[in-house]
Amino acid sequence: MSLLLGLDVSTTATKALLIDERGAVIGMASSEYGYETPRPLWSEQDPGLWWRATGESLRRVMTETGTDPASIAGIGLTGQMHGLVLLDDAGTPLRNAILWNDQRTGAECDEIRTKVGRERLIGITGNDALTGFTAPKILWVRKHEPQVFARVRHILLPHDFVRLRLTGEYAADKAGASGTILFDLKRRDWSPVVILALEIDAAWLPRTFEGTEVTGAISMEAAALTGLRAGTPVFGGGGDQAAAAVGTGAVADGIVSVSLGTSGVVFAASSKPLIESEGRLHAFCHAVPGQWHLMGVMLSAAGSLRWFRDTFAPGASYDELLAPAINVPAGSDGLFFLPYLTGERTPHNDPHARGAFTGITVRHTRAHFVRAVLEGVAFGLKDSLDVLRASGHGAAKDIRVTGGGSRSRLWRQILSDVFAAPVSTVSSDEGAAFGAALLASAGAGAHGSVAAACAATVRVTGTVEPCQGAAVYAAAHPRFRALYPALKR
Ligand code: XUL
Repeated sequence: MSLLLGLDVSTTATKALLIDERGAVIGMASSEYGYETPRPLWSEQDPGLWWRATGESLRRVMTETGTDPASIAGIGLTGQMHGLVLLDDAGTPLRNAILWNDQRTGAECDEIRTKVGRERLIGITGNDALTGFTAPKILWVRKHEPQVFARVRHILLPHDFVRLRLTGEYAADKAGASGTILFDLKRRDWSPVVILALEIDAAWLPRTFEGTEVTGAISMEAAALTGLRAGTPVFGGGGDQAAAAVGTGAVADGIVSVSLGTSGVVFAASSKPLIESEGRLHAFCHAVPGQWHLMGVMLSAAGSLRWFRDTFAPGASYDELLAPAINVPAGSDGLFFLPYLTGERTPHNDPHARGAFTGITVRHTRAHFVRAVLEGVAFGLKDSLDVLRASGHGAAKDIRVTGGGSRSRLWRQILSDVFAAPVSTVSSDEGAAFGAALLASAGAGAHGSVAAACAATVRVTGTVEPCQGAAVYAAAHPRFRALYPALKR
């Protein structure tokens, strides 16, 4: 049986995951790093950190598991989306990468809307211009750092920079590339119209590949550094959200994956390039060949609970924090939480949105506040689900929840009640790296397709059904919806 690797170049660490064809995890190694906020709203990272962490995590997973490099059939790449990596002629980074959570480009987003036309932009790319996306960052560097811009010869996304170092090839996967908003969603390739309107040199953009296509092979230098065999195929993979969705089996119409990580994501696979006409949902290519997806992104999901714990219950474990909240009635006796601690994408697209607790009375205890946080996050995710349903996606028949927050039975029950739908957990909880490895397994022929790879490796492990809380939440959700416009600055 051959083995597959998934490599996830995330914001906080690069993780190498080794699995077999049945999806069993053979080993995992992760190497961490930080990121810089040189000014308020800025977020940057040195691409050299990713490459060092790639070498370290791959070497460690190979040696700790004693794996024969010849048994590895392929490696799939994934990573943080939308980051801008600018390279010179020799492929050397010209400045730190500007990351997905950087918010400096409000003026450049307006410039893009003016130059392309907002409706035309949404029609071609599937998306409005958001500060987090790649294209406005290119315009920002052109305007503010002309001496850097003059030397640009290549533009890559973070995991595609690692791909370049592993293989020597300038290449991108279509799922990640569609997150630049320089991409024609329906044609699944760069948009000459948008690129021309923004006066970007098309020669700087790499060739794009489906998630299961070979983009290159491990070079001799990379083999020496990583412990892999030179010639091992490197597959397209996908942006972290698309790859994580593959890892939950969200690869067909009707399956929706909901991730409760630091941020929260409602992700729906689609066999058609659906677009939400107001651009409230992200519409990108899926990492599955010939498929697309719609996605609502909440910026502080489990991150809201972590903030609450660190601020009001430092040192408490999540179990200690959550246990008393089980006895608080659904609706938290009228206490509401708005989870917009770091601004919000879906449904408000407002980097200046702010969090709030409202409806506080003397009856409320810490347990009420904890429950209100879980409920506020669930309401925010329901907003994404509602926009998804309204944009022609049809029924979300099979909702699968993953990420750190999904370990809480209470939070899963609240989600099920708020969604008024069953919510399941799945066997694979390894995130994007697992999905990237599955894409490699389909590409390498270990499975006939990505859907077959998922069917062979991903199992539903449990389902929570809606109960009494559902009626309470159906009445409370419109009140939650009314709070953002009332508090908007
Ligand atoms: C998705 C997004 C984030 C990053 C985080 O649109 O911006 O999920 O990919 O890694």
